[in-house]
Amino acid sequence: MTKQQKETVQALQWTGDALKVLDQRRLPEHIVYDNCNDAHDVANAIISMLVRGAPAIGIAAAYGVVLSVRKHYAQSNHWRQKVVADIDMLAKSRPTAVNLFWALDQMKVTLSQQTINPLVGILACAVKIHEDDIAANHKMGELGADLLTSAKGVLTHCNTGALATGGYGTALGVIRSAYRRQALDVYAGETRPWLQGARLTAWELSQEKIPVTLIADSAAAWLMKTGAIDWVVVGADRITANGDVANKIGTYALAVLAKQHDVKFMVVAPMTTVDWGINKGNQIKIEERHQKELLPDCYLEEDSLVSAWNPVFDVTPVELITAIVTERGVVLNPAAGQGVRGLK
Ligand code: MRU
Repeated sequence: MTKQQKETVQALQWTGDALKVLDQRRLPEHIVYDNCNDAHDVANAIISMLVRGAPAIGIAAAYGVVLSVRKHYAQSNHWRQKVVADIDMLAKSRPTAVNLFWALDQMKVTLSQQTINPLVGILACAVKIHEDDIAANHKMGELGADLLTSAKGVLTHCNTGALATGGYGTALGVIRSAYRRQALDVYAGETRPWLQGARLTAWELSQEKIPVTLIADSAAAWLMKTGAIDWVVVGADRITANGDVANKIGTYALAVLAKQHDVKFMVVAPMTTVDWGINKGNQIKIEERHQKELLPDCYLEEDSLVSAWNPVFDVTPVELITAIVTERGVVLNPAAGQGVRGLK
């Protein structure tokens, strides 16, 4: 049994000649896998959100490069150029999660090192990216759970579990590890407009037999006011060197509310989510998705006076963060030091 097979919930499965992707748009009602047979299929799966979550996007893209090599190596003398064109296409699938660009860079380096038959080396690189992510998540689970020892309740946002990663999860991995150690009330925000919290986190936790209470995003302040939660625990799509964190829209609002209510704020992400090339969060490109994700059809007509603004990530400034948990260690009060630079 490989490390990949041990996970209860699996977003991504490499079959040997295709990438099986759990269609997250259809959860929790339907568990349906789609086969990606080439890099275009993988890019489309990322664009259309069959696969989502920063680490899972990076891992899927890595397997997309494997599929590209498999397709072009046998067929063309110009296979390297074709694979590089596929890598460029995969890089355009989503802009904010840096794990995508990190994984593609790893694959590019590996590709440049292949001399005779590239298939074995390129697949080994993708599998390593996948398995390293699972191992990092387990490590972060333990480190994050150490911070929650006296916590009675936590609130999480979006979906950061096995569905969003290679397996186990980042923020949700911490919650899984902590729940195994102690009683813990887990709250999940529904995470509009795509409902990752209501559809995915609630489903994933119930698969793990962890009770969860769902709240409307707008109930978070009132929940904090009751004293029911000690920590907000979230993932990240990109962390800049100073410790600013891009994550699902609504994360910044939770951090502001947490400050007001003396609730601690934990960000959990692997080192692959750190963007060393950027010093501050205002340099991160924030994805805006189509207004149809928010608007009822009747407002989508051309002469409609109703439009929608749909940024799907925001940036939480480091000053609002109590702890950043990575597999390399925990940075407490990152604003007081040098952000995450000490982990490099
Ligand atoms: O738009 P999504 O669903 O890809 O956004 C996912 C998130 O924002 C997650 O919280 C983040 O990727 C961390 S996942 C481990």
